[in-house]
Amino acid sequence: QIYARITGTGSALPERVVTNADLEKIVETSDEWIRSRTGIQRRHIAAEGQTTGDLATEAAERALEAAGVKASELDLIVLGTTTPDIIFPSTACLVQHRLGANGCAAFDVNAACSGFVYALGIADKFIRSGQSKKVLVIGAETLTRMIDWNERETCVLFGDGAGAVVLEASEEPGIYATLLHADGGFKHLLFNPVGVSVGFKDEPNHGVRINMSGREVFKVAVKTLDSLVDETLQAAGMEASQIDWLIPHQANLRIIEATAKRLNMPMEQVIVTVQEHANTSSGSVPLALDYAVRSGQVKRGQNLLLEAFGGGFTWASALLRY
Ligand code: ACO
Repeated sequence: QIYARITGTGSALPERVVTNADLEKIVETSDEWIRSRTGIQRRHIAAEGQTTGDLATEAAERALEAAGVKASELDLIVLGTTTPDIIFPSTACLVQHRLGANGCAAFDVNAACSGFVYALGIADKFIRSGQSKKVLVIGAETLTRMIDWNERETCVLFGDGAGAVVLEASEEPGIYATLLHADGGFKHLLFNPVGVSVGFKDEPNHGVRINMSGREVFKVAVKTLDSLVDETLQAAGMEASQIDWLIPHQANLRIIEATAKRLNMPMEQVIVTVQEHANTSSGSVPLALDYAVRSGQVKRGQNLLLEAFGGGFTWASALLRY
């Protein structure tokens, strides 16, 4: 049997850090409110002109270096993003050229905050089928470009960043199971109302903004993630006690704590970066993974449960041996 194994991780964050205290000067909010509701303390924000592709390329270079893989050896690049540099070519194509991996397949996946885990699930199938041997999977966003900085309900929640992994075909596990789900019936709770086909509006930021019913999103996220982790354990034939680390999407500390509770896992076994990065959408899971690997928390041979939930709604998971 062929497995897809993570052989290298990398990440990238913009230099500029904006704290909750900085946001207190822009909107009527408080560090106390933001921390107690979300766990967020600060976030990185892309500089003017700094794009999703820039962050993705940087993260990818670090992952390739960690894996000891040359860009020219890649046979696929899958990039999860909901904030591509331009409409086309895909950001995956832009990154491919910058890395010097020209010729391999490259495409973007838009599954909002579940983008990276979706991309990982797709890449896993390419490797298991024998189609690909070395795949670069990236989650990258400049989500703050969608933000209305006058709107306190959303502007405190998001940040920019990217993470990447190199997946290689291996006889050793590897990814045991990935699950991908969506329900477009929840579009109204979390969406950006404009775009190419619908058209842009004569409004600030061309109408590009995040419309979110926070409380409803919160409720559905907790419930959906509860059943997702159960389903993932079942698909991999594992018990919760066999999981060494939970690496969740970093949207809100209270959602993360609820998932850990469902798994009966102490928070010491959960990778939490939301306080530093806020919600970086597709960037969040690979950023947290790279942080956990480089800080020495996640070690070879350990079992990791990755999960995400986002606009669509979409939700996805991966259970793997690192
Ligand atoms: N500062 C101070 N007060 C605020 C702020 C703020 N930044 N934002 C909202 N408030 C106020 C509200 O106006 C409301 O006031 P009211 O009671 O007088 O009406 C009060 O705080 C409570 O608001 P709620 O929305 O009930 O607060 P809640 O506890 O639900 O927390 C939050 C809001 C943090 C958004 C939470 O619901 C949440 O995290 N939801 C999930 C969001 C999420 O995970 N999104 C992920 C997907 S993102 C993606 O896919 C792109």
